[in-house]
This record gives sequence, C-alpha cells and structure tokens, in this order.
Amino acid sequence: MKLKEIVVLGGSGFVGSAIVAKLDAAGYSVKVLTRRRDVAKHLLLLPNVQVVECNVLDYQALNATLRGADGVINLIGILHQSRRISFNAMHHQFPAQLAKICADLGITRLLHMSSLKADKNAPSRYLQSKGMGEAALWTLQDKLNITIFKPSIIFGRGDAFINLFASLIKLLPAVLLAKPNAKFQPIWVEDVATCFVNSLENTDTYGQTYELAGPKVYTFRQLVKQVMNTLNLQRPIIGLCDKLSYAQAFMMELLPVKLMSRDNVKSMEVDSVSDKPFPAIFNLTPTPLEAVIPEYLIDETPRGAYDRFRQNAAR
Ligand SMILES: NC(=O)c1ccc[n+]([C@@H]2O[C@H](COP(=O)([O-])OP(=O)(O)OC[C@H]3O[C@@H](n4cnc5c(N)ncnc54)[C@H](OP(=O)(O)O)[C@@H]3O)[C@@H](O)[C@H]2O)c1
Repeated sequence: MKLKEIVVLGGSGFVGSAIVAKLDAAGYSVKVLTRRRDVAKHLLLLPNVQVVECNVLDYQALNATLRGADGVINLIGILHQSRRISFNAMHHQFPAQLAKICADLGITRLLHMSSLKADKNAPSRYLQSKGMGEAALWTLQDKLNITIFKPSIIFGRGDAFINLFASLIKLLPAVLLAKPNAKFQPIWVEDVATCFVNSLENTDTYGQTYELAGPKVYTFRQLVKQVMNTLNLQRPIIGLCDKLSYAQAFMMELLPVKLMSRDNVKSMEVDSVSDKPFPAIFNLTPTPLEAVIPEYLIDETPRGAYDRFRQNAAR
C-alpha cells in the first residue's frame, strides 16, 4: 500500500460511511471532514478513522486540513438547493477549488463522486452542476490522477430513496407517483464503496470515468411496487402526468422537509440507466436490489429500529 492517509469529504453521509468503513478495514488512515462531528459519530468506533470538523468552503481551513494527505475522496453533494447553498457552489465551484488545492499541495490522487447522466446540457440543475464539476476537474488532469464515478440511484441500509418510499407506503392509502415511467438502474452502496476503494491505488483507473449501475433496470413504478412487495403492503400507485408531476413537486417544495423538488423531476426527464456493461476493472458482479432491501426494510433487530429512528430524525 503506497497511499496511507486518505481524506474523505462527505464521509459522514450514506455512501461516505460505507466507503470509510471499507477504507478502515483495508488499513488506510482515514480523515473524515464534516461540518458537525456528531453526525459522524458512528465512524468514531472505527480504529483507523479520525473525524475532523471543517468548513470545507473556508478554503484556507480546507488547505490546512488536507496538508499531508496522500489521497482525497470527494463525496459532497446536495439533492436540494436552498437560498444559502446552490448546486453550482457544491457540485461545480467546490470540486474545482478542491482540485486546485490538491494540486497546490502535491496531493495527486483524487476520487470524485458525480452522478449518472450528469452533463452540462442535462435537463436539471443538479445534473448540470455535476457535469460542470466533472469538466472543471479534467482541466487539472495534467497535475492530478483523477477518477470519477457516476452512479445511478444507490440503495442500501440508510438510503434516502427506498426508505422514503417505504415510509410513504406505510403512511398513505395510495402513492401519487411523479414520472412513473422514468427509469433507474439502482446500485448497492457496498458495490459503489468497493469500486472506490479498489480504484484508489489502481493506476489503470487514473483519468477514467466509470458509470456504476446495477444488474436491472426498473421504471419508477416498478421500483415502488418492489418496495410494496418487500413490505407486503399493497397500495394503489397513481402515476401522474408530467404537468401534475411538476405541480406535486412544487407543492412539496413548500413543505419544511424537502421530499421532492421540480429539479428532481427534471432529473427524471433522462433515464438514469447506463448503456455500458459494469466496469470489468472492478471484477465485481453488482448485487440485485431484491437481495438486499428486505434486510433493512423489514429489519426488526435493535439495529433496524435504531436506523429507523435515525431516518425519522433525519440524522
Ligand atoms: N445516494 C444516491 O442515490 C446518489 C446517487 C448518485 C450520486 N450520488 C452522490 O453521492 C454523493 C454522496 O451521496 P449520499 O447519498 O451519501 O449523500 P448524503 O448522505 O446526504 O451525504 C452528503 C455528504 O455531503 C456533505 N455535505 C452536504 N452539504 C454540505 C455542505 N453544504 N457543506 C459541506 N458538506 C456538505 C455532508 O457532510 P457533513 O454533513 O458531514 O458536513 C454529507 O456527509 C453525493 O455527491 C451525491 O450527489 C448519490
């Protein structure tokens, strides 16, 4: 192992926690940067992990915190923008600045999380900003060894997407579904984490972009139906036309808790599906959704109850 200290930005989150656990198990010394140490407290038990509070948008502080690292993994991302924080700031300007700081400090290895169908001409601001972030990184490819990952939606214990629909199905007599024919190719969080960790020191992955998509394509309707089947709770699914999909999202934007925005609906204008086979370099057969979601949707163990508590408390 040539790289020793790896800094993970966004390591406290759903995907980050899975990646950090695998880095820890592989023996790397891992530094997780977070805005609030308490949101990353589940990582403190891992023997090789250090959690450091840092406002990553304070570039002087970021520079000081990254100094001495051998590699950086950037997972920071938001699904909804607010008046204070924009997609452009988090997905475009921030990775561009992060890459410059890495280059200045001589940290040459950078792994970056984008999204399937991210492109500057994509229909949603989310996908556009992710696409512009990718383009900004490639301008520094002569100084950095960059690898970019573009997953479809990611499922696994603690995910936002499958768990949200499980909660709605339990709560409501029917599901009013935006964009019911939008397509997804869900990928398991542990498979995503394996790809990140395996690429870290694999020089063949330098300068590459990898689409990460699971073994099966689902329409949004089929995905919700799969969650119902897993829970053994059947509800009518009422698919909304485009106009009503946007109207529903507009109403949801007015709620204090953001469930879905018009920008999320715009993201579904393009199918989140890969036309490439799973990248052979990772020597991995992606895990089907059906094999994993029962483990956490109908988990009656204390761990399952704790996860649901965290989910409900948005922690
Ligand atoms: N989940 C999916 O289905 C999916 C699919 C495709 C791509 N992705 C991408 O994968 C990445 C991780 O997603 P996730 O599902 O793990 O998200 P998550 O659980 O919400 O975690 C996001 C992370 O980003 C950090 N973050 C958010 N806003 C921030 C801000 N204003 N300033 C600094 N840090 C901020 C958080 O760090 P702290 O709270 O610790 O500061 C958190 O650890 C994102 O880039 C996302 O776009 C996810």
